[in-house]
Amino acid sequence: MPRDIIEIDGRPAHQKKSPETPEVSVAVTRGIRAQVDAAVNGDLYTKVAQFWAPFMQRIFVSLRGNLSGFGGDTFGELREFRDGYLYGEAPYVQTVERALLNFVARESPSLLKHLMNVRKFGTEVIHNLPGKVETINYILTGLALHDIGKLVTGNGILLHRGVFEPEQMAKMTTHTERGYYLLLALGMPDAVVDMALRHHQVGWENRERFAKSYPKDVEGEPLPPHVRLGRGIDTTVAMFENRPDRPSAPPEKIIAKMEELRPIHGDDVTDVIVHLVSSYPLTKWIDPHL
Ligand SMILES: [Fe+2]
Ligand SMILES: [Fe+2]
Repeated sequence: MPRDIIEIDGRPAHQKKSPETPEVSVAVTRGIRAQVDAAVNGDLYTKVAQFWAPFMQRIFVSLRGNLSGFGGDTFGELREFRDGYLYGEAPYVQTVERALLNFVARESPSLLKHLMNVRKFGTEVIHNLPGKVETINYILTGLALHDIGKLVTGNGILLHRGVFEPEQMAKMTTHTERGYYLLLALGMPDAVVDMALRHHQVGWENRERFAKSYPKDVEGEPLPPHVRLGRGIDTTVAMFENRPDRPSAPPEKIIAKMEELRPIHGDDVTDVIVHLVSSYPLTKWIDPHL
């Protein structure tokens, strides 16, 4: 894989559009979205309500508190507000990120810490990548919100101590699509939505080499560059964090794992992460105590 492959829409950096108009990954994401959408009945808002009902009021309280001028409490009103937002799309995305993180802070401080670890280490990885990474802010928002669906996989799952039983594991794996539905309904851009949906996939071309991948990979769909970037970052952070079912991994173990996963994350992402893990204490960016 070439080292400068981080090109979000496949064009050289000088031909790119501004970060305000990213064309991220839709072409390689249509199949997986269709597959996930087909598995749950109803229109988008029905799907969101199905998973997020107990939290909807609190989410809208947070949105109203952060998005000045927004006074509604439905997704329809929110979409309308976004489309006419005086400051444009990028500030809207940034503000919704803040509103959601304020909400996560109240619901699960340990999830917030993981999200902040991923965002912070992600910033460092991106700055060390060769070449220019477009739409950085949307990628960072995607990192900050990638696991938000974990809030609605059931209390016992989020606060679970010890190893997951198979049925708990099955429920936990739905956090990707639950986060995806929420972010889609909030009108977040593709870069953000795809990060939530796809950060545990391995990509179609890797499906035989790596067994664990969810949602199930769709024929002909590789991981978009920003998702394999996010996946590499998330894997590194997760290994370094003290989790209920396992302790923080030492650097050599993280490096060995990243080498094993090189076909998924690519040479550019793997090289930067291995460099950072072998050169610095990860506590520089990641607080391992959740
Ligand atoms: Fe996840
Ligand atoms: Fe994660």
